[in-house]
Amino acid sequence: MSDTRNLRAGVIGVGWAGEQHLIGYAAAGNVDIVALAGMEADRLELLGNAYGADLRYADWEQVLDEADLDVVSICTPTALHAPMAIAALNAGIHVLSEKPMAENAVTAQKMVDAAIANDKVLDVLFNHRRGGQVKALKKIVDSGLLGRIYYAKAGWLRRSGIPGLGSWFTKMKTAGGGPMMDIGVHMLDMAMHLLDEPSVSTVSATTYAEFGPRGIGGATGLGSQKSGVGDSVEFEVEDLSTAFMRLDSGGTLLLESSWASWIPHDLIYINLYGSDGGATLELGGSPATYTKLDVWTEVSGFPAEIQPDIPPSGGHSEAVLDFLAKVRSDNHDAHRGHEGLARSLVVDACYASAAKQREVTL
Ligand SMILES: NC(=O)c1ccc[n+]([C@@H]2O[C@H](COP(=O)([O-])OP(=O)(O)OC[C@H]3O[C@@H](n4cnc5c(N)ncnc54)[C@H](O)[C@@H]3O)[C@@H](O)[C@H]2O)c1
Repeated sequence: MSDTRNLRAGVIGVGWAGEQHLIGYAAAGNVDIVALAGMEADRLELLGNAYGADLRYADWEQVLDEADLDVVSICTPTALHAPMAIAALNAGIHVLSEKPMAENAVTAQKMVDAAIANDKVLDVLFNHRRGGQVKALKKIVDSGLLGRIYYAKAGWLRRSGIPGLGSWFTKMKTAGGGPMMDIGVHMLDMAMHLLDEPSVSTVSATTYAEFGPRGIGGATGLGSQKSGVGDSVEFEVEDLSTAFMRLDSGGTLLLESSWASWIPHDLIYINLYGSDGGATLELGGSPATYTKLDVWTEVSGFPAEIQPDIPPSGGHSEAVLDFLAKVRSDNHDAHRGHEGLARSLVVDACYASAAKQREVTL
């Protein structure tokens, strides 16, 4: 798109994620937020007024038909990403989808196909790779300081953080999976990004559901307390997953994620083991704002520990800006959602391995 007129933007889904996209569009230049869709009338009014979106719909299909959008963000329950994205792409609208791309890779592939068929941008938003610590670590990895990275461990473990216990998040049909699908995918994305996008050759994974089926481990209470939802809560996904992955680079990635587990506090971490150095990145924990990025190597024969300067975090707003730049670029072919699809293929392989109780080959 070579013209520089303001792009007309819409957001479907007005929960936490939808609001982050609105903040991003509001901060970007040359964009008019014109339309919102969602099922909560109060949120439509609140966010519509706050961000100047005059067109507000309960029916998402009406947004695509009537709002004359150039770009749309899809911030709805995961299994709705594909039908909404495909309809938008078929209507000639560029799409920014929340992570995970879809409830499985077969559906994600259909989104990619629709982007290609309509020559439109399809982008999947992974905000956590845009954190300041991750950016600093990426710079260090790319500088070659750590040498060849042959082993990586990544995890997002919550003590008591099942989102919406009993809601769409915990049902297979709407979410497609539990923490592996929801937060493990962020760590998979960060690890792949840091390791320069190796392919995963094999996966051996396990999943467990020890908290959710008992109605405990919800985001509103301590792990030891009832969430208030009750014992009969519908919980069809896992609440902890582990995965051992062989990479085509010869390396190994160990990935774990949990929504609830008996641990002292939440932790998001990545450990990299390289031939010439190593790094530990920790986010969250106790206190919640705790962060750490340590790098170890050797300088002139002396052991050296480096604590790099941390650039500002970009989050959703940076991802929205990148998406808009892709839309305005002349190279739409490079932006058809393939990275999101690659993540979905690995997540699917993890669930397949856990179900079959053996290693699977991608
Ligand atoms: N990147 C992140 O850090 C991050 C964080 C949270 C959620 N997410 C992702 O964002 C997506 C939404 O999550 P959330 O926490 O905002 O969920 P949410 O339940 O808070 O909001 C979902 C929104 O979708 C709307 N919706 C549902 N069905 C609809 C329909 N048929 N038509 C129109 N609107 C409909 C609801 O009305 C609601 O506004 C999920 O895919 C989730 O994985 C990403």
